[in-house]
Amino acid sequence: MSLWDKYNVKKDYIYRTIALLFLIITWILLSSGELDGSIPHSKIFFKSLNLDNYFTSLNNGDKVSQFTDVQTIINKDSNYMKFGRATWKTFHVMMEMFPDVNMNNNDDLKKRDKLVDWINLIGETYPCSKDSNNIFLQSVQRYPLPINLNKIINIEWGCHIHNLVNERLEKVKYNCSQLILDLKQTEQDYNQDIEYNDLDKVTLNKEDKQLG
Ligand SMILES: *[C@@H]1O[C@H](CO)[C@@H](O)[C@H](O)[C@H]1NC(C)=O
Repeated sequence: MSLWDKYNVKKDYIYRTIALLFLIITWILLSSGELDGSIPHSKIFFKSLNLDNYFTSLNNGDKVSQFTDVQTIINKDSNYMKFGRATWKTFHVMMEMFPDVNMNNNDDLKKRDKLVDWINLIGETYPCSKDSNNIFLQSVQRYPLPINLNKIINIEWGCHIHNLVNERLEKVKYNCSQLILDLKQTEQDYNQDIEYNDLDKVTLNKEDKQLG
């Protein structure tokens, strides 16, 4: 074998290796499509993070200060209570209606950041919020909204945040696991061609029980 032949054999080998590598890389890139987080907005996905484990009571081991006299009076004011309910309703509807996040879409991610800002701003600007009793703000900061892929996580998270506040106010807690089961039932109904919009009716009704 001449030197030239030897050189050609080596060249072939290198070309073949490059071609093989190219194929392997292309295959890896194309086959990982399901990991790109692109979830169609029209479909509900149930990737519940089991948020029960994410949240633990704020009261456990925490020193929760008592309400001041002024706050106690305000808390019993019926107009203030109406304001509180309206705010919760806005909060829950926002969590329900917020579109799924495509993790590859910068606009989606920016919007999701705005949602987090909005939630924090509610806590920061809510009347009487400049005190250690701002359990809403404490809750959303201690248990930040998980990077949300879908509205189920948003809804479940909102349910838990409301419960943390209700717990502090010694009000009834809502069973968030039951809420998710109800949603799954709704998805089954949805798969049987029930209108997508029914989801909003169902979950709004369920969460209504938690208001107040
Ligand atoms: C909440 O709902 C789930 C699902 O229905 C149930 O298994 C669980 O026992 C309920 N928890 C409470 C405290 O009622």
